[in-house]
Amino acid sequence: MRMLAHAVAQPNIALVKYWGKRNLEENLPAAGSMSVTLDALWTRMSVEFPAAAAADTLSVNGLESGREMQARVSACLDRMLGGSRLPAAVRSESNFPIAAGLASSSSAFAALVMAASRAMPMPHDTLSLARLAGAASGSAARSFYEGIVELRAGGEQIDVRSISAAKEWPLCVIVAVTAEGPKAIGSGDAMIRSAATSPFYRSWVERQDADLELGRQAVRDKDFEKLAAVSEHNCLKMHSVMWTSRPPIVYWNEATLNGMETIRELQRRAVPVFFTIDAGPQVKAICLPDACGAVVSALAATAGVKRVISSGLGRGARELDDLPDGA
Ligand code: DP6
Repeated sequence: MRMLAHAVAQPNIALVKYWGKRNLEENLPAAGSMSVTLDALWTRMSVEFPAAAAADTLSVNGLESGREMQARVSACLDRMLGGSRLPAAVRSESNFPIAAGLASSSSAFAALVMAASRAMPMPHDTLSLARLAGAASGSAARSFYEGIVELRAGGEQIDVRSISAAKEWPLCVIVAVTAEGPKAIGSGDAMIRSAATSPFYRSWVERQDADLELGRQAVRDKDFEKLAAVSEHNCLKMHSVMWTSRPPIVYWNEATLNGMETIRELQRRAVPVFFTIDAGPQVKAICLPDACGAVVSALAATAGVKRVISSGLGRGARELDDLPDGA
């Protein structure tokens, strides 16, 4: 019997970051995190059992995928369905660059787990699926939920939930793309290096709960300034841990710094906006809806910024009846 299902997931951007693992085997994060799920970017995934081939196949935007990604996808399906499962044909399409610090693994693994769980009979509850996706890529667990999302890492397993629906506090996220190529080192390997070598790593992890509490309060009170302060501070702390790793991990380029300066200039003019930066050189600006136009224009005019993507907050991963373009 042919079993085919489709799903879509949106990437998420962390405001209080995940950077470090407590358990490598289970891929459990060392601390909790908080993120916003985007609506303008997406990854659509089709999973079909059995594949025509004897082993799993993976195509990404119509091209056969590299071996490393293929292995991560196969490991994720093994974890879900057991090692003696049928081989899967997996097709993935995204409307944004992959592995460039735009959180592509968050939407990819969320969409993969959602589609595979619909193709094969298995429990469907969102938290179980989020945990399975998180075992493949920590940030993917958050893409099962809408709006502003908190991931708690204190117990045996992670807990994830939406703490503000997309419409409840409709923030805008503007991504200034400063380089399109894949990053030099993947975030998983980079955070393992940070944990092993940065003298700041331990204090970074110890302070995460305090930052999360501030973030939670800011979201509860819709206090944009408070959210801005804790998010920028948390981002710069994470990059300090990266920079002080050995060898150092530096994802920024000149345009990243220019983008940060653009945000600072907007802040001096009392525009409600703040920045965050992940494992890549893109600058992500978060702002209140009224400020969106000014932030888009300012970032688009920033030296070295190639293009600007503007997004609202989006929904969690979900099944699709079909792929819209028949891909
Ligand atoms: C900087 O989720 O890609 O974007 O679990 O190893 O796949 P793995 O890591 P991943 O790391 C995301 C790191 C980050 C911060 C964040 O999203 O919280």
